[in-house]
Amino acid sequence: MVSRKKAAEHLEPASDRVRVLGIETSCDETALSVLSVSREGRSIRVTKSLVSSQIPIHQRYGGVVPEVAARTHVPETVSLLTQALGKKELEAFDAIAVTRGPGLASALAVGVETARMLALLSGKPLVGVNHLEGHVASAWLNGRNRKMWQYPLLALVVSGGHTELVQMNGPGEYHIIGQTRDDAAGEAFDKTAKLMGLPYPGGPQIAKRALLGKKDAYALPRPMLHEGGLNMSFSGLKTAVRNLWEGIKTTTTDPIALEQARCDMAASVQQAIIDVLLEKTFRAARFMHAQGILLVGGVSANKQLRQQLERMIRQKLPGVAYLPSDRRYITDNAAMIAAAGYWHVVRGETDAWETMEFNPEWNLS
Ligand code: KG4
Ligand code: ZN
Repeated sequence: MVSRKKAAEHLEPASDRVRVLGIETSCDETALSVLSVSREGRSIRVTKSLVSSQIPIHQRYGGVVPEVAARTHVPETVSLLTQALGKKELEAFDAIAVTRGPGLASALAVGVETARMLALLSGKPLVGVNHLEGHVASAWLNGRNRKMWQYPLLALVVSGGHTELVQMNGPGEYHIIGQTRDDAAGEAFDKTAKLMGLPYPGGPQIAKRALLGKKDAYALPRPMLHEGGLNMSFSGLKTAVRNLWEGIKTTTTDPIALEQARCDMAASVQQAIIDVLLEKTFRAARFMHAQGILLVGGVSANKQLRQQLERMIRQKLPGVAYLPSDRRYITDNAAMIAAAGYWHVVRGETDAWETMEFNPEWNLS
């Protein structure tokens, strides 16, 4: 168990700005950042955001290999800290925020141990951040969104490992009101892409091909769409694509026709996922009387999802604000971790470096 202590007295900014060093190593991106916030909290700047992606390494295996991810994080973290970040930033931060979970155990351990060591050596406050709260904070990094930030908010969190509808009643008050029962939306993109012979990560590959395909070419299931409740399921989609694709592959010999079928399947998969996300988000927003809807997590890089959600809100939820992630901070990064860390640090919520532990299964609420 982590002892979260009240430590507002430890936040002693050296200047008129609070600088938070963010560290993220939960999956296949090693990331560091520095967030600088004015004392009254009005001016927010990401002064550094460094992301070293391991995607090319994991592509060889068709997905993320935890042991390889962890081993790669070690030299990458050291190199980002010492070379890319530089001495000036390393001497000037006021607090440290690190992803403590959820994520891959051995990968999380690298960031957490680095952060604990930095806290010990610097004497600065340390806070362990939930990766999903980090994604939520990526919407707050968008200045336009901050102006419309009014609770209760609904966050649609769609990443490689999670698909959640999160009700936010106030700062730090999260309630998961809907989630996937099996695969995450990002996983559905990644797994169906793999079935069609496309490289990891599948989301961008599917999105690219969907541009050239017909979204109603294949009738794919939209599980739990018309069931009451806010939960979702995406594993049936994978099975349906597997069965259809096997048939297509054996009957289509012309490579051009096969590529067109791949594009049609990509467009159909993408639309099936979007339909489910949109319907459940709409229901959740109505149910909790949301003032705004956040769209965050790696899958929110999907242009169709962004456009269709924005349109749905405009047409069916008048008065509700559309609050997408800042484009620069959609996929895993450390600026979002520093931002969520800032929320905690200013409330005096920090963790003791002596006892802070990573938690691969850490829930948001
Ligand atoms: O949030 P993220 O960077 O990492 C996790 O926390 O999991 O999300 C990665 C996920 C992957 O499943 C990837 O395929 C998906 O985001 N993704 C996309 C797109 N870009 C990334 N999915 C659909 N369309 C995209 N353009
Ligand atoms: Zn993520």
